[in-house]
Amino acid sequence: MCLKGLIVRTANKDDLPHVYAIEVSSFDRPYPYPYLEILLNLAPDFFLVAECEESIVGYVIALPRSDGSCHIVSIAVAPVYRRKGIGAVLLQSIMHTCSCRGYRRYVLEVEYTNVPAKRLYEKNGFKPLRNVANYYGPGRHAEVMVAEDYSYMADLCSD
Ligand SMILES: CC(C)(COP(=O)(O)OP(=O)(O)OC[C@H]1O[C@@H](n2cnc3c(N)ncnc32)[C@H](O)[C@@H]1OP(=O)(O)O)[C@@H](O)C(=O)NCCC(=O)NCCS
Repeated sequence: MCLKGLIVRTANKDDLPHVYAIEVSSFDRPYPYPYLEILLNLAPDFFLVAECEESIVGYVIALPRSDGSCHIVSIAVAPVYRRKGIGAVLLQSIMHTCSCRGYRRYVLEVEYTNVPAKRLYEKNGFKPLRNVANYYGPGRHAEVMVAEDYSYMADLCSD
């Protein structure tokens, strides 16, 4: 996957230009850079990057909610690094982060037509909850997906 191995770690301010570049190459309506800064400031423990051969190749961002769930706000992998298992590692890493901080329900929105992302989520235990019409713009509907964590083990949460 990566010559020197994949590292997943919490993001810092210096990573944001790289995260933004991936965001722009992944979405037709990317989050603005200042919004990424806000997300990093709001919940730095829940903003993870994947590093491969000293480059940022993907990221995942979650926000903890007062109802005990973690909202997965965004996940993306740089186009040339896709289909190498990095998205799955990022998703599982953020679920681990959330779980170890007491959030064992995960919620996200995905565009109905986004087959790669839906497959990734289904493979990791997410199930459709409801649809939200026009969430991504006129005629572009979202599916809200949820997963519950039944495998929490305190001794895996030392980090
Ligand atoms: C969705 C995304 C993060 C997946 O990242 P990735 O690193 O390519 O995913 P992985 O290699 O870990 O794939 C894990 C599983 O997801 C599914 N998957 C990933 N890409 C897929 C594709 N192009 N077609 C079908 N299934 C796909 C497969 O089930 C795959 O498992 P498999 O390889 O054993 O079949 C990546 O495609 C991406 O960045 N997309 C653009 C941004 C985006 O849409 N984010 C989601 C917003 S809700």
